[in-house]
Amino acid sequence: MNRYHPLLVVLHWLVAIMILISLIVGGPMLADMKNSDPQKITALTGHMIWGLCIGGLMLARLAIRVFTRKPPLADTGHPTLNFGTQVAHAALYVLVFAMVASGLGIAFSADVFAIAFGGSDAALPASFNDIAARTAHGIVATLLLLLIALHVLGWAYHQFVRQDRLMGRMWFGRKVE
Ligand code: HEM
Ligand code: HEM
Repeated sequence: MNRYHPLLVVLHWLVAIMILISLIVGGPMLADMKNSDPQKITALTGHMIWGLCIGGLMLARLAIRVFTRKPPLADTGHPTLNFGTQVAHAALYVLVFAMVASGLGIAFSADVFAIAFGGSDAALPASFNDIAARTAHGIVATLLLLLIALHVLGWAYHQFVRQDRLMGRMWFGRKVE
């Protein structure tokens, strides 16, 4: 077994693209819009649906990961780095779920679901800035972006220093037992 299950590969890349889009484009654009902007509720609705889909797909990925055989841990050549890789992979899951949870926290605190989907006539608050979950959402977004950068660096280390074709493990192909 030298590759992840094809479903895990598809979900890894789908979720990665969706996360990068909301971290780099969608989220910051949303944060720049004033809550009084008539387009804000539409943008929020899109961001919430997109974010909840990421959460659902990440949960599905975690479930499939538990029930499929995984390749053995890719060796970095250093026991500490091997351990660090495992921590970093677990932290990627934790931070993505923390993004979704803090996003839900903002939405519930400001009753955004009722305003966006429930036909409530109430207006959005002047800003979300005094909601604790909003502060957490921004901090976790920065941490997640940094961890993804580290994750890509880890891949580059395998690819160019160890030259062990790590990418093949997260791609499709013949299974070699
Ligand atoms: C953007 C969000 C991303 C997330 C949340 C993410 C998450 C993960 C996780 C959790 C794993 C460990 C396998 C598992 O537990 O299922 C993994 C493996 C992997 N990722 Fe990502 N990833 C992301 C982006 C990327 C990018 C941009 C690259 C390109 C360099 C990449 C390349 C890989 C590779 C090659 C592996 C296999 C590592 C191994 O076999 O040990 N990932 N990713
Ligand atoms: C993994 C999923 C998600 C990612 C990557 C993400 C990303 C972001 C980013 C980068 C920002 C801007 C942060 C800043 O500039 O400080 C943001 C803002 C926001 N997000 Fe998310 N988000 C996700 C899920 C969600 C979910 C599920 C909800 C609600 C159900 C949500 C609701 C919001 C709200 C209300 C804002 C604040 C907009 C404002 O300040 O006006 N997010 N998001």
